Amino acid sequence: MSGTCCEEALHYVLDYETPKTLVIPNLRVGCVFRFTQLLVVLYVLVYVCVIQRAYQDTDSVLSTVTTKVKGFSLTNVSDQEPRFWDAADYIIPPQGDESFFVLTNMIVTPDQVQSRCPEPPSPSTVCVDDCDCIEGLNDPRRNGIQTGLCVNFSETVQTCQVFSWCPLENDTALPNPALLASAENFTVLIKNSVTYPKFKFHRRNIRVNSSYLRSCEFNRKTDPDCPIFRLKHIVSEAGEDFQEMAAKGGIMGILIDWSCDLDWWWVDKCFPKYSFRRLDNKNPTNNVAPGYNFRFAKYYKSPEGEESRTLTKAYGIRFDIIVFGTAGKFGIVPTIVNLGAALSFLSLVPMVADWFLLTCTSKRDYYSRQKVTHLKDDAEAESISMATYGTS
Ligand SMILES: *[C@@H]1O[C@H](CO)[C@@H](O)[C@H](O)[C@H]1NC(C)=O
Ligand SMILES: *[C@@H]1O[C@H](CO)[C@@H](O)[C@H](O)[C@H]1NC(C)=O
Ligand SMILES: *[C@@H]1O[C@H](CO)[C@@H](O)[C@H](O)[C@H]1NC(C)=O
Ligand SMILES: *[C@@H]1O[C@H](CO)[C@@H](O)[C@H](O)[C@H]1NC(C)=O
Repeated sequence: MSGTCCEEALHYVLDYETPKTLVIPNLRVGCVFRFTQLLVVLYVLVYVCVIQRAYQDTDSVLSTVTTKVKGFSLTNVSDQEPRFWDAADYIIPPQGDESFFVLTNMIVTPDQVQSRCPEPPSPSTVCVDDCDCIEGLNDPRRNGIQTGLCVNFSETVQTCQVFSWCPLENDTALPNPALLASAENFTVLIKNSVTYPKFKFHRRNIRVNSSYLRSCEFNRKTDPDCPIFRLKHIVSEAGEDFQEMAAKGGIMGILIDWSCDLDWWWVDKCFPKYSFRRLDNKNPTNNVAPGYNFRFAKYYKSPEGEESRTLTKAYGIRFDIIVFGTAGKFGIVPTIVNLGAALSFLSLVPMVADWFLLTCTSKRDYYSRQKVTHLKDDAEAESISMATYGTS
């Protein structure tokens, strides 16, 4: 009894399984098999080789950018002389980096000196007497450090006095249209050099002669190679209105795509592709604190030694130049690895054909009996071999 049990277990472990080839003369199964093979080969050729370019080594771009903005503007503020502006006035900072700021609108508070003055009235600043004002209170949301006095702001209102740069800035009335509305006609020259170190490939975005460069302006259709861009063109290609952006400020992205195929049969197609988009949030439903602004001051000293400053709250458009790209070139290692991975799909083809054979053909029961044969013992194996090779 235990003997047969042991024997069964022994057979379970030690019986040798070997695949047997069945040749099935069924055209439909044959078609499914070949068609699946064809699909796999097409996948390798079209997707892996042509679309993914899996035979290539890749490298990402190293890049450097300099910019130069040109253009003039005249501002006419009603009660002042017309003022002339050039790039040294409206480009802040002036280095010409891959991120540059063009001043388009501003609130200027001239002749501020260190002194004491009343804060503008608001629920937290109005007071009745000195007890309402705390001496030394230093709140970042206020305009200065409180002196503890309650003084006349106007004939009707009293507010707490602060020690600060006085007169205080009043930024409630932002000029609209923007003061430098003509900034839309300024141009920027972008110089961009890129390197793919792995492939020792260098290139510049300026590929035109100097006489053309002196007169051209980028246009996607007529002058796609010109590296000089009109600011209005950049903003409008991103679907924005320049004058609206100029009033409150904003951030624009200039994207330069250097994706290249460096194989010799493609190499002359490695050109920069420019695109533009607005980067800061302009969501109309969540438009708290829109735009982009910052403050800076210029300082003066009178002959008597009194220090004063001119405070400017600057609104404008910051242009960020973002260079990206990947280059590919034929490499033997990625070719072998990816080809091997792709061709391993071929081993799935017989499974598909078997599934079709065992579920969709009319003789499926017969085929499934033929596919797996359990031999009872060596004697039966011998009888099968006699039947197969009977006559010999
Ligand atoms: C700020 O300027 C506006 C317009 O010029 C004026 O109406 C407002 O009263 C001023 N606010 C203060 C606190 O001076
Ligand atoms: C403040 O205003 C009140 C009422 O208008 C006036 O009587 C008073 O003299 C003013 N104080 C100063 C210091 O100007
Ligand atoms: C920009 O230039 C165009 C044509 O040169 C002109 O019509 C337009 O008025 C200028 N824009 C501004 C704001 O000056
Ligand atoms: C410069 O390039 C432009 C267009 O690319 C061409 O029309 C012009 O003849 C060239 N000028 C010279 C001096 O090579």
